[in-house]
Amino acid sequence: MADIIDGRKLSKALNQGRVKAGAAKLSRAPGLAAVLVGADPASMVYVKRKGLVADRVGFYHRQVDLPVETTQAELLRVVEALNVDPKIDGILVQLPLPAHLDSQEVLDTISPTKDVDGFHAVNAGLLAQGRARFVPCTPLGVMRMLEAYEINLSGMDAVVVGRSDIVGKPMAMLLLAANCTVTICHSRTKNLAETVARADLVVAAVGRPEMVKGDWIKEGAVVIDVGINRVADGSLVGDVEYESASRKASFITPVPGGVGPMTIAMLMENTLRSAQISQGVEPF
Ligand code: GUN
Repeated sequence: MADIIDGRKLSKALNQGRVKAGAAKLSRAPGLAAVLVGADPASMVYVKRKGLVADRVGFYHRQVDLPVETTQAELLRVVEALNVDPKIDGILVQLPLPAHLDSQEVLDTISPTKDVDGFHAVNAGLLAQGRARFVPCTPLGVMRMLEAYEINLSGMDAVVVGRSDIVGKPMAMLLLAANCTVTICHSRTKNLAETVARADLVVAAVGRPEMVKGDWIKEGAVVIDVGINRVADGSLVGDVEYESASRKASFITPVPGGVGPMTIAMLMENTLRSAQISQGVEPF
């Protein structure tokens, strides 16, 4: 049976430890602005949770709720105002945006120095070149979990299932920088099962419930499940078949309580670091 990687416990330790302490040392509290367009229920839950954690670690937090019919120009103006707001160190625009909006243009309008999600083209480019400034929170949280459980990545065959700009691509970059041999799989991949079966480390980030089957997992592999899918009976499941995978894996992340809380913890770390840089304090 696999050891469970406890993201809830680890994120609490990080938030209540160095993030809270780091924030308390600053003359002005780190400020985080979250922009939510429309009323997608999952996005509302995520944004609310980020606000609660921000409060708990002593940050200033502002949620900007915009109606679903907000135009591109209106949204860009909101972002531009936050870019020059001296109380705000981190800006996040919750994704996905309603279909009529151009997400890429919105993300590229966020000042790269306040881009605590790490989605701006400049930050994506810096990460790809191995000189990251802000790293997207979910893959950063995954790296932090692997580190905390002392999993030695060097030379591992890592398979990332999913190629999104938010998780799959930055995850692959981070694993490459940690000396893994990285394969990225996606919806057109042939032989997905065989590819996953060769992996020492599997990161599943496709957003399809239990799509990665337990019997694909190599004995002793490390399994990281980024998926959070609500299924017909109302429960949450990951992208991996948990029960069967945990019989093969050496380490596995649960859903919920795995990667999710780490994503929020990394958002807090990125926001703290942004505030430290802007206040001339040595970032951690
Ligand atoms: N939607 C899903 N994940 C994320 C995230 O990490 N940040 C933002 N802004 N939106 C998301």
